[in-house]
Amino acid sequence: MKTVSNIKVLRNYLAEERLQNKHIGFVPTMGALHEGHLSLVKRCLEENDVCVVSIFVNPTQFNDKNDLEAYPRTPEADADLLEAAGCHYLFVPSVEEMYPEPDTRVFDFGNIGRVMEGAHRPGHFNGVAQIVSKLFDAVEARRAYFGEKDFQQIAVVREMARQLGYATEIVACPILREADGLAMSSRNRRLDSKQRRKAPLIAKILKESLRLVPQMSVQEVKDFVIDTLNNEPLLCVEYFEIVDGQTLMPVNHWDQTASPTGCIAVFCGQVRLIDNIMYT
Ligand code: PAF
Repeated sequence: MKTVSNIKVLRNYLAEERLQNKHIGFVPTMGALHEGHLSLVKRCLEENDVCVVSIFVNPTQFNDKNDLEAYPRTPEADADLLEAAGCHYLFVPSVEEMYPEPDTRVFDFGNIGRVMEGAHRPGHFNGVAQIVSKLFDAVEARRAYFGEKDFQQIAVVREMARQLGYATEIVACPILREADGLAMSSRNRRLDSKQRRKAPLIAKILKESLRLVPQMSVQEVKDFVIDTLNNEPLLCVEYFEIVDGQTLMPVNHWDQTASPTGCIAVFCGQVRLIDNIMYT
């Protein structure tokens, strides 16, 4: 595995790979890697000749400075995991490399960018689009891999790729879960032992809510999920929305869309966790 921190150096390596007709796959990450990330790397290796993984904790997508500072960073362990997984290029740029000058671009993704995470983390998706477009420019991958835990992020990245005309195919990969159902996330490391025991309730209650459909109305299912989780002392629901899986518009009746999807953000103590479930 080659570790590269400079965009030009990376581009030169990848240009050589392309000259040999190699297909390049890309997995953008913010590090603190877990099995979920490694499943993206595995899929990338299966479907491409060359696998590039980036690790960059992107400051422009954090609307909360404390969250940026607290974001887990485990560079040595990450490099070991990627080497063992068979990754070919690890791209680890500095903030100066990615943002030699402030990125002033403002994106508009319509409803997709405005609801849920967009409403609760102002500027977050603009920052995601800024960094993902810069990374796409550097890697020029044939395919890029994203985890479905960040369901809305995938919709935003697809829309960004459409607006900017990227040829990179966006591949959505299933959520990986711990044995107790908790969606794998780098943020799980910040849970203390009490919180870690409570956090799997999020996935458990989402799963239980599947049994209520279609007998209960959309509103009743939303109330069930929100009220049950908020009754737990360590949990506080920030939002739970049931939306159309494509447009992310709110769903009021189950037969309104072929892909009703429940998206949730919950504070477990100070740690903000997200998850989602498809009601089909
Ligand atoms: O999902 C993430 O880890 C980040 O949002 C991403 C896509 C790497 C952009 O910084």
